[in-house]
Amino acid sequence: MSGMAGLQRLPKAELHLHLEGSVTPELMGQLAPEASQEEIGRRFGFRDFAGFLECYKWVAEHLRGPEEYAMATRRLLASLAQQNVRYAEITLSAGVIIWRKQELAPIYDAVQREAAGSPVTVRWNLDAIRHFGAEHAMQVAELAAERVSDGVVSFGIGGDEVRGPAEWFAEVYKFASARGLRLTAHAGEIAGPESVWSALRLGAERIGHGIRAVDDPVLVRHLRDHNIPLEICISSNVATGAVESLRAHPVRRLYDAGVPIVLNTDDPGLFDTTLVREYDLAASEFGFSEEDLTRIVENGFRYAFARSAVPSAPL
Ligand code: ADE
Ligand code: ZN
Repeated sequence: MSGMAGLQRLPKAELHLHLEGSVTPELMGQLAPEASQEEIGRRFGFRDFAGFLECYKWVAEHLRGPEEYAMATRRLLASLAQQNVRYAEITLSAGVIIWRKQELAPIYDAVQREAAGSPVTVRWNLDAIRHFGAEHAMQVAELAAERVSDGVVSFGIGGDEVRGPAEWFAEVYKFASARGLRLTAHAGEIAGPESVWSALRLGAERIGHGIRAVDDPVLVRHLRDHNIPLEICISSNVATGAVESLRAHPVRRLYDAGVPIVLNTDDPGLFDTTLVREYDLAASEFGFSEEDLTRIVENGFRYAFARSAVPSAPL
């Protein structure tokens, strides 16, 4: 493997990727013809986490029904296929769909149809919005449970971890687990290591971001010893201000401490990135060797929630 071309060719998996966040400014122009280029640029030009959540909400609001969701899925899967991503766990913010008082079924059927026609093997993670509370999250978990044998592998929580503490969701996670769903949670992205501990107490098997774990050596050892991977999204953390600068990102320190990590894009349309670019950043900015990158690529398959996510033979 050498350079971008080698990274491009390597069969990869992506585990932390939001469908809504895959919408690019260009697709947004089609979804919101009433919005000027200037407005789209301004909304996508957020500088902090609150601005990011606002943009995410604005984009999600414009996915008005099954057709728009299918369009976004088609675009995302074309990009993943082009990058040789063979397996993707895609998060659908079911929380947004419930909040809009829409039915999940026609939307899920539409995105599943797109996935079925793609060379990328797709499994779905249904995500609740932390700051909408536990009742809302339970509705998402119930919908996810109905689809366990139909492409949904996991349940998670995203949104604002400060305004929606993990403790609220203990019953919801218990329910989801009992119904056969695997568990993940965004935590330690903008809040500190205590938020990661709370997510672990919920039973989260993977942590979305989890970068602030680096501030707690006991937690770092716990993640390493219990083989709990962090779904690392470098460009996301820079764009939302979760880290002060690219250089300040703790990915290297976490990796060197033996914490299992997987590289991901989170919201590639909002952060103007691709999975290949995230690997390239890891190499160019953080000195990850080809051996390191190969191990991280393997982690993408190893920590997948679907049992069948075995890597196919390299091209
Ligand atoms: N939803 C989509 N991306 C997210 C992120 N990085 N943090 C919290 N919620 C999200
Ligand atoms: Zn995310």
